[in-house]
Amino acid sequence: MRSTRGLLLLSSLAFTACQQHTVVEQKREANVLEGVAPAQEKPQTSRENGDAEGQKPSPYKLYPPIFTVEASSLPEPGHAFQFAYAPNSERPYQTVFVYVVAAIPNFEDAEQAPVFTSEFEAEQFMDQWATEFAQDPQNTVKLEALTKSFQWSVDAALIDDKEAVIPEVLLKGQPNYVNLTQRFKARRFTFKAPGETAVKAIINGVERSQVRFAIQAYTQAEEDAGKARYNDPTTGCVGCHGRDGAGGQGAYIKHSSDNFAFLTDEQIAGYFRDSKYPNGEDFLDGMHKWPVADAQEERALLAYLRNSTPVFDKILDLLGLSSFALGARSEIPSLRAWSPYR
Ligand code: HEC
Repeated sequence: MRSTRGLLLLSSLAFTACQQHTVVEQKREANVLEGVAPAQEKPQTSRENGDAEGQKPSPYKLYPPIFTVEASSLPEPGHAFQFAYAPNSERPYQTVFVYVVAAIPNFEDAEQAPVFTSEFEAEQFMDQWATEFAQDPQNTVKLEALTKSFQWSVDAALIDDKEAVIPEVLLKGQPNYVNLTQRFKARRFTFKAPGETAVKAIINGVERSQVRFAIQAYTQAEEDAGKARYNDPTTGCVGCHGRDGAGGQGAYIKHSSDNFAFLTDEQIAGYFRDSKYPNGEDFLDGMHKWPVADAQEERALLAYLRNSTPVFDKILDLLGLSSFALGARSEIPSLRAWSPYR
């Protein structure tokens, strides 16, 4: 999904270790919680670490743990997450935002980062690493303590901030190594006023990570005009997208303010004005160009799209929980009705 650009999924860190040094990884380095890593053992060679029968070396010893805190999703470098606000909007502008406190293998300081040829191989590695991690009970104690000391700093003038509980059942559906090495902290943000702000993660009183949010102002009249244009029975978007963008004939996609948070106004307008993907490539073979009367109408549509209901599964997607959740949602009664937005 394009909107997961900038996404940081700790569960795939192992796989990315063998790939290019990304911006996200640079950010990870910056966020490492200095002083909480156990005394670093000098990386050993595989021979030193394996036993006489030629067993695989201990990944835990080769890559001793570092503790880190990360936002589960990040906008592109230098950008802010874009949300909107209109007074008296019938649906509150909301998102659920998640931080992850985690122990991860220290590939950066290793003589050699492991090379994986598949995601499966990387997962196997992580499973073994996490199992060894959990064998030292001190590690788990440390992880719990850091999670407990975790605090958010949110600008109360712009954002109404409440805890969002991620159901146990979703966390249980995670791979074992995630359960052993990661803790999730979720907050539900409701945007109260326009402005620019940064949400900060604080651990043991020290700021560890921050993500910028830009909350744009729309008037209620703009939002209403956008809604009318969208749902117009003859010229509207409703024919394909369903009423209120709820998904419909042909376009089985729900607009989600969470998806749009990754995009500028220009990029969103690009979809329906120029039939272009945010990266400029042709979208739907150039067939998704719709008449927009003027800049005012375009802005109205943007106001309306930015107010689309955030999609539940998108949040889970950011957590790397979605494929499980999709199945679980229909099978588990308590989940069927669960929404982080209540
Ligand atoms: C003829 C059918 C049709 C009409 C009419 C239509 N769309 Fe779409 N639209 C689609 C399809 C198909 C997709 C792609 C769905 C997918 O990727 O699964 C799409 C995708 C989009 C997307 C990107 C997906 C996202 O993140 O929400 C936006 C934005 C969008 N449409 C806005 C509009 C707007 C605004 C209008 C009216 C001005 C409109 N569309 C009218 C068929 C249509």
